[in-house]
Amino acid sequence: MQNKYTTYILNEQKLDNYNLLLNETLFHNANGYIGVRSVFEEGYPDGFESIRGQYINGFYDFSQMKQAENLYGLTQEKQTMLNIADTQSIILHLEDEKFSMFEGKVLDSIRWVDMEKGVTGRYVQWRSPKGKEIELTIIRMTSFHQLTLFTTSYEVKPLNFSGEITIESSHDGNVLNYTDCNDPRVADDGIRYLTPISCEIKKGASYITSKTTKSNCTITSCVKNILLQDHERQFTIDNNNAICQMTTEANLGGTIKLIKYAVFCDSIRYEDCREQAGVELEKALSTSLESLYKKQEDYLSVYWNNCDVKIEGDDELSRAMHYNLYQLIQSVGKDEHSNIAPKGLSGEGYEGHYFWDTEMYIEPFFTVTNPSITKNLINYRFSILEMAKENARILGHSKGALYPWRTIMGKECSGYFPAGSAQYHINGDIAYSIIAYYLATKDLSLLKEKGGEIIFETARLWMDTGNFHNDIFYINDITGPDEYTCIVNNNYYTNVIAQYHLNWAVKVYDLLKNTEIFDELVNKIDLKFEEIEDFHAAADAMYLAYDSKLKINPQDDSFLQKRRLDLQKIPKDKFPLLLYYHPLHLYRHQVCKQPDTIMAHFIIEDVQSLETMRNSYDYYEEITTHDSSLSDCIFGIMAAKLGMEEKSFDYFCHSAKLDLKDKHKNTKHGIHTANMGGNYMAIVYGFGGFRLKEEGIFFAPILPVKWVSYQFKISYEDSRIIIIVKEDICCFRLEHGSAKTIHVYDKIYHLKDMLIINRRYNKEERS
Ligand code: BGC
Repeated sequence: MQNKYTTYILNEQKLDNYNLLLNETLFHNANGYIGVRSVFEEGYPDGFESIRGQYINGFYDFSQMKQAENLYGLTQEKQTMLNIADTQSIILHLEDEKFSMFEGKVLDSIRWVDMEKGVTGRYVQWRSPKGKEIELTIIRMTSFHQLTLFTTSYEVKPLNFSGEITIESSHDGNVLNYTDCNDPRVADDGIRYLTPISCEIKKGASYITSKTTKSNCTITSCVKNILLQDHERQFTIDNNNAICQMTTEANLGGTIKLIKYAVFCDSIRYEDCREQAGVELEKALSTSLESLYKKQEDYLSVYWNNCDVKIEGDDELSRAMHYNLYQLIQSVGKDEHSNIAPKGLSGEGYEGHYFWDTEMYIEPFFTVTNPSITKNLINYRFSILEMAKENARILGHSKGALYPWRTIMGKECSGYFPAGSAQYHINGDIAYSIIAYYLATKDLSLLKEKGGEIIFETARLWMDTGNFHNDIFYINDITGPDEYTCIVNNNYYTNVIAQYHLNWAVKVYDLLKNTEIFDELVNKIDLKFEEIEDFHAAADAMYLAYDSKLKINPQDDSFLQKRRLDLQKIPKDKFPLLLYYHPLHLYRHQVCKQPDTIMAHFIIEDVQSLETMRNSYDYYEEITTHDSSLSDCIFGIMAAKLGMEEKSFDYFCHSAKLDLKDKHKNTKHGIHTANMGGNYMAIVYGFGGFRLKEEGIFFAPILPVKWVSYQFKISYEDSRIIIIVKEDICCFRLEHGSAKTIHVYDKIYHLKDMLIINRRYNKEERS
């Protein structure tokens, strides 16, 4: 166990519902395919709450979505990521006593996440009520090398006795999803989605195959227990729960070691998932656990080498940053059947749906560190393009595609359309992310094969949603990112991203015009040159609201006419407002859940003056609750851009530890992946002033006064650049690849090997 910033260690706190649930999330294991919450192997006594979950990314069932008034086109059915067979349970008997953290005496208890090794650990020293003392060391891993595999190594060391030990390891097919009827961010239906259809023992392993009720998906899980000492073994199957009981003699000073292999295969990825589970188990057993650990570490060493951010001068923040980036690689889907959910694979908040969080908060990290992961996320969007077209038809559009606001398999899942389906900006967000991928990599192949088609089909939708009126292009009756203001006209964020999107649709058309796929593509989607001309004209004529009195961009046409909500007068326990105020009350006030215009100023900065951005910042900050975890990081980034370094740092300190300190009081439902991507952006785009544009890459580093230095890396085209920011200099080093032109503090430099540039001082350092 290491005690540096790559390991997050926790001395066990009070064993109450709050800590147990929180730590189930914080210490979960995931690899982008499987996610396992960190429930104690031996479970909790009755009366304690647990969200005992194991999930597969993108594995779902449908359930009915009741609409009180069945208006045309409202979502009737949603998807839910399912809790799958439980393979966590290991119960330890020391003769007639059962190990439990809630009985006897816990002499020592530590949990940790080792982010270099890619494992979680649990160490317990325990004295039983009758005085037997043991040491338990449990290591869990969801393998990056073999995505279907979850391993638990369970070691028992008797400290003051020799005697019989019995271990009961179970594999239980009876599972339900978690529900909470008081929180709209969690499901409330309590449906049994997954039914076991077989539970059997084959070659010493248990196999449970279960089927979903509606989506016609199947999953097989397979468990094999290997106890390294001589032992007696007995299998029982009780109501689709396969229990393997192993009894052995423990000797004082010796160690009993069990390795529990669990593999999962689902019918979305595998034709015959039962057979494949057998193949995957054999594959796992054919290598030693040590070599699986080594492969895990190797995988992560490449990952960290691509993306690590180092902060000198604050180990706690450094560790928090590391934790955030670790959770992103744990959470992100590694194939085109999956994406990254707001809670990753750590819990059931938002039911495992995918949102715009992917494109605007998480891809900006992967695109400049591990672009192949972004490519994969774009492939997923392409795989649901046909459903996005169907979605557009449901909403009355005769042409083009509208991506669902939240989904797993491609169909819209948002039940409340004003704050859901109406967020048409998701089309612009997806296009924006494809363009960013292209700008960072100059990889035309993605545009040719998939990206171009997505950009054109989604651009078409703006033409049908908006319209020219007196030569100006308006977009009415949509919702912007701020979910406390719904169904508005000319939301600034939406209009500006639509303009960017339409302009780029024209550029992509030109980029692809002379390539071999052009004719086939335009024929496939029946794209006419006149449409491209219309895109151009609409972008040119796009209405971007500006208030000349306040010198700000109004969030939308009616926003400034509304009464301001005085946030200071609202009691602290009435936040987040969405849990305590009727939506209409919020919509009729100037109050924001999250950045909207400020987000637009961050992502598309060149269409407004600094003065407008500064005034807008001051204006919106006063009325923003930050009830969404997507908020702080963007306010922090823009504070850095606008010269408010201290404020920027405060926002960062808050958001960097949002989950580790449970600042939103809902980490028990899962981590906040968008915020985690946002924290990367806070350092790189905020303090580092990094921007990725058509004209190249830009930096304007500042140094938080409490730090000695920080560094990060950017992959750009064929090169990787290391950026180190210190007190009086910033250093740009080409780690590999060809020389690059870079922009630093508005000047252009040629980076061949290394560049050292005097740092522009922060405002408070100067004063
Ligand atoms: C935010 C959305 C976000 C969703 C999932 C909501 O609270 O308002 O912007 O996409 O959470 O993270």
